[in-house]
Amino acid sequence: MAEEKILGYLAKNDEIVDSGGFAAQHALDHDEVVNVIKSLHGFRYVDAQDIKRETWVLTDEGMAYATAGSPEVQLFLAIPPEGIPREELQKKLDPLLFKIGCAQAAKNKWIEMGKQLVSRKVQHVDDRVKDLLLQIKDGQVVDQDDIKALKGRKLIAPQTWNGYSVKKGPDYAPQRKKFVADLTREMLQSGEWKNLEFKEYNFNAKVSSGPLLVDYPSNYLKLMDSGHGGIEKIFHRDICAEIRFEEMPTDRYVESSFWNFDALFQPQQHPARDSHDTFYLKVPSTTKELPEDYVERVKRVHESGGYGSRGYEYDWSREEANKNLLRTHTTAVSARMLYTLAQKPFTPKRYFSIDRVFRNEAVDRTHLAEFHQIEGVICDRGLTLGDLIGVLHDFFSRLGMTKLRFKPAYNPYTEPSMEIFSYHEGFGKWVEVGNSGMFRPEMLLPMGLPEDVRVIAWGLSLERYEKILFLA
Ligand code: PHE
Repeated sequence: MAEEKILGYLAKNDEIVDSGGFAAQHALDHDEVVNVIKSLHGFRYVDAQDIKRETWVLTDEGMAYATAGSPEVQLFLAIPPEGIPREELQKKLDPLLFKIGCAQAAKNKWIEMGKQLVSRKVQHVDDRVKDLLLQIKDGQVVDQDDIKALKGRKLIAPQTWNGYSVKKGPDYAPQRKKFVADLTREMLQSGEWKNLEFKEYNFNAKVSSGPLLVDYPSNYLKLMDSGHGGIEKIFHRDICAEIRFEEMPTDRYVESSFWNFDALFQPQQHPARDSHDTFYLKVPSTTKELPEDYVERVKRVHESGGYGSRGYEYDWSREEANKNLLRTHTTAVSARMLYTLAQKPFTPKRYFSIDRVFRNEAVDRTHLAEFHQIEGVICDRGLTLGDLIGVLHDFFSRLGMTKLRFKPAYNPYTEPSMEIFSYHEGFGKWVEVGNSGMFRPEMLLPMGLPEDVRVIAWGLSLERYEKILFLA
């Protein structure tokens, strides 16, 4: 508001002679006007010249008299027309007020201090002191002699007033240019970015001392110190079990639809398989090799089920399964690992992976088309949902998240499935931190795993985990 007024005024006038007068005229707070002038000056919109003025402000005592009246008038009014014994008058007034009042009133020849009686010498008095104090408080100019007298009585004190006179600066414009803070996808696409002026980074800005950093600093540092090593350490912690987590080979961004979806019992009409959600490759557009007998069993389980399942009852397409894509989750890697595991006599395993995945999403400041997933998989005979919950408590507590809640969810490849929520002390609410479940028999049995083998698994996004630590 003040900024518009100042720039607007300078469009039509040469100068703002005095910021004080300008503020009063436009009903603006002078402090605000000063701040705006300083900022406009910094960006060379205006030139500003200091104005200093000695002004007077009321002391506490002056303030008290400006409201209640001067001591001499208070004293005068306490004297009835017929006079009053000194002691009685004294009782009616505060001692200091009495003392000052007597001295001043006597000096003004308003009262007679007799031996017994104090009496009025005039019938009526004006409270000039109060009036003068009110004028000064109001910022009005007062006669030098009066100032001297009030200053002598310590009812006013000097104060320097700081203001400015303002003229157009070298970069004056009637409106401040808006600097853009965020570069968006739209600006890039339309080419608009070329005409925009961007806000400079302030590398000296202090980090806000919100509740964010204090929550899990040691774990976050652990994570950042060693790249993914921090999380790996969590999987490698010997207390976790005698059997350590083995890292799965994740060096394959291009995956076939078969391993990314079909092997996971994700039907071919599933919306996540749409090209709006998944990046498909143009070259090479299809995979060359898939384990044929296993493909046959996957096809069968999709079409007609088996292993106690009805399947999805649709015509499964090999072409669809052959399509190459950028893997949408690291669970594609878990599927390959479990298939490999199933080809040998069964031994229990614990696996983990941390690597990049891709989703066809609108890219903006907070969303990327690629991010990293952390995944854990445990397979053993007779595992239960209770084991999964226990492992999740153990895992997330190592990331500093000790209060967990689970919400029933749906994944095509797990049953039951649970979304994982952690209570965030800083936000004061539950935030989603991951997804989990027990892989379905329709996924595990076609691979050839023994019937009593259960596989529990969970996944989370590394970026989301960081965000939970750092952002609101
Ligand atoms: N693949 C799931 C996702 O991308 C995460 C998950 C992994 C869920 C393992 C259950 C079991 O969100």
